[in-house]
Amino acid sequence: MKVLFYETKSYDRESFGAALSKYPDVKVDFIDANLSPMTAGLARGYDAVCAFVNADVSAMTLEVLAGFGVKLVLMRCAGFDAVNVPMAKELGMTVTRVPAYSPEAIAEHAMGLALCANRRIHKGYIRVRENNFSLEGLVGVTLHGKTAGVIGTGRIGAALCRILKGFGMYVIGADLYPNQKLVDEEHVVDEYVEVKDGKVDYASLYRRADLISLHAFLNKDSYHMINDDSIAQMKDGVIFVNTGRGGLVDSNALIRGIRSGKIGAAGLDVYEEENANVYQDRESEILGSSIVARLCSFPNVVMTSHQAFFTREALGQIAECTLENAQAFGRGTDFVPRSVVTAPGVE
Ligand code: NAI
Repeated sequence: MKVLFYETKSYDRESFGAALSKYPDVKVDFIDANLSPMTAGLARGYDAVCAFVNADVSAMTLEVLAGFGVKLVLMRCAGFDAVNVPMAKELGMTVTRVPAYSPEAIAEHAMGLALCANRRIHKGYIRVRENNFSLEGLVGVTLHGKTAGVIGTGRIGAALCRILKGFGMYVIGADLYPNQKLVDEEHVVDEYVEVKDGKVDYASLYRRADLISLHAFLNKDSYHMINDDSIAQMKDGVIFVNTGRGGLVDSNALIRGIRSGKIGAAGLDVYEEENANVYQDRESEILGSSIVARLCSFPNVVMTSHQAFFTREALGQIAECTLENAQAFGRGTDFVPRSVVTAPGVE
């Protein structure tokens, strides 16, 4: 199996390089260019390509790849919205992804953002570097004994509930499908808000939570679930964290909530309009969008660029799963469970 890896950074080369010895059938080449219709031709002579979340795996890209005999697209991420799946099906190509990697990594980052924003650690760090040892404006709240609301208690949300319990917080969960085990067996969720006819009673979480963290996935129902109306229902000074997806939050409503003091601290790893920015160094550019600039202008906001997953363990799991699938394709054996997006003969 000869695989061409697109848009690779030093950390991709390192994590995949370290895992390669376990997959003797797989030979790889790493390139800087991202996968697009313009660069698909570089895969001539390869059996497979490997791409990331920000690749352009459109119909045209797939047609070029198929024309050069590439039969497998390995997405080294969970999401596959960058791939034109119907076209891949039509061309008889196989597309795989990495269904899950280190949920704890994302939960730990969410907690880190909450702590940093609440205690203004980002401001304190800069002040001390500037020989400014004043504490004016840095006061936060003690989390112990307070209430946390976790929206979406799947793999990542559940990992955060465990962390929040360790901090001595009362944990309220909100999920379309509450996981009663987290309440009865693990004792890391104290209660779930009610779900009636598929409608989650978010209001009772908003009313009581001192810290709210989003871990639901984005779809048409959850798009802008955090808006002016939901923010108005939250406690004054709430700590708000989003490591889920930018589209869950109406950014302008969030900015209004921060300006009014309703939101006391915010930690954001994802935000609307992040796609053009993700993993790019745009330091010397004059950016058109002002969402990041506006959010960063607030002293109680901490932002990172889709970095929550970024641990050695998660990178290792991404590499193992991707190479496992490349080898399975070559040998005709089973793919990693839940990783097939489309394959000939699979509905
Ligand atoms: P998961 O599928 O294990 O859990 C998602 C949970 O959210 C499920 O229990 C589901 O029932 C619940 N849910 C969905 N819509 C909901 C709604 N409207 N209200 C309440 N609950 C709802 O997914 P996982 O692995 O925990 O991922 C969660 C999110 O984290 C995803 O949106 C994913 O995109 C994001 N993520 C972010 C990363 C980062 O680096 N910032 C990395 C990986 C994932």
